[in-house]
Amino acid sequence: MKLIDSHGRTINYLRLSVTDRCNMRCFYCMPKEGIVSKGHDAVLTYEELLLISETAVKLGIEKIRITGGEPLVRANIINFLGRVAVIPGLQHLALTTNGLLLPEMADDLYKAGVQRLNISLDSLNAETFSSITRGGNLKKVLAGLDAAEQAGFPPPKINCVIMRGVNDTEILDFAEMSLSRGNSIRFIEYMPAVKEDNWQRYCISGEEILDRIAARYPLIPIDRGTYCGPSRDFSIPGARGSIGIITAVSGHFCSECNRIRVTSTGQAKGCLFADANTDLIPWLRPPNREGLAEVLKGIVSTKPERHDISQDGYTHSNFTMSQVGG
Ligand code: GTP
Ligand code: 5AD
Ligand code: SF4
Repeated sequence: MKLIDSHGRTINYLRLSVTDRCNMRCFYCMPKEGIVSKGHDAVLTYEELLLISETAVKLGIEKIRITGGEPLVRANIINFLGRVAVIPGLQHLALTTNGLLLPEMADDLYKAGVQRLNISLDSLNAETFSSITRGGNLKKVLAGLDAAEQAGFPPPKINCVIMRGVNDTEILDFAEMSLSRGNSIRFIEYMPAVKEDNWQRYCISGEEILDRIAARYPLIPIDRGTYCGPSRDFSIPGARGSIGIITAVSGHFCSECNRIRVTSTGQAKGCLFADANTDLIPWLRPPNREGLAEVLKGIVSTKPERHDISQDGYTHSNFTMSQVGG
């Protein structure tokens, strides 16, 4: 079965957030006063998350990416992932993490059947890293990167949100990691989720990032893979890893969008920036597989053609990325 939206796009990718909690506080993700975590009852149980996953796969979803907050802070996550990994028809199970808990958990994640990890890492300088994450420990994340590879994962993709005046002097250092360590680096345009005053000052377009790298290294465009996300990828000749830009603000990858999202409280979203969510709770409590399947089809058929954010005109409401899962 295939899920095709009303703009002709095949939807085969579900981003499923399992918690809004996080053990870091990145300034672009949460306001400085933090967020009030959702109560225990509001967050979906593993049984409910599994019901959504199974239903989505039956409808045509082939890839599930587990997100957060930080997915690894949720208790018993390994057991849940093991159950998702064996859903018949699921081709790809991936997880996005800040990496802090990987030294303890990478082996178990690999054994549970997670196939790929994406790790957020915005600076290779301990002080800058701590300032972006409001206290995060760079050494632990780097140890997490090593632990993932020792556990058997392919080199994790690195997500690096580039912000002018914050970490843009490190673009080439990150690009070099694709040569020295074989990681694929994705430079992400800063998205104004938490609409800080004068947020435009942080914005650097993906094109500028590419230009800065291209001034030092030749960049060869790479074809998009089957379940690829929004990244436009290139490689430096001789590098094992790739270099990508995720032009979340300037770019126009909406026409190739292949995903839907469900938050940890059961809000389904056709677009990251859609203000309107569909509450799945009525089909989860009590469980109603047929009803849930119809609602998920509805999310796909009403999926917006594109988002309308840009540096000058910007209309959506404030939201914290940790509650949506990116
Ligand atoms: P792959 O499945 O490995 O391609 O990963 P991905 O890039 O889809 O997922 P990841 O969780 O690593 O997210 C990387 C960045 O892309 C994050 O900043 C996300 O917020 C952003 N992103 C992912 N999907 C979308 C999308 O549909 N729209 C926008 N604007 N940004 C997205
Ligand atoms: N802009 C760009 N990327 C963001 N992420 C979280 N908030 C933002 C934002 N405001 C990224 C994280 C993580 C991914 C899931 O989303 O860095 O890698
Ligand atoms: Fe946590 Fe990721 Fe948000 Fe940072 S970006 S606070 S690591 S959820």
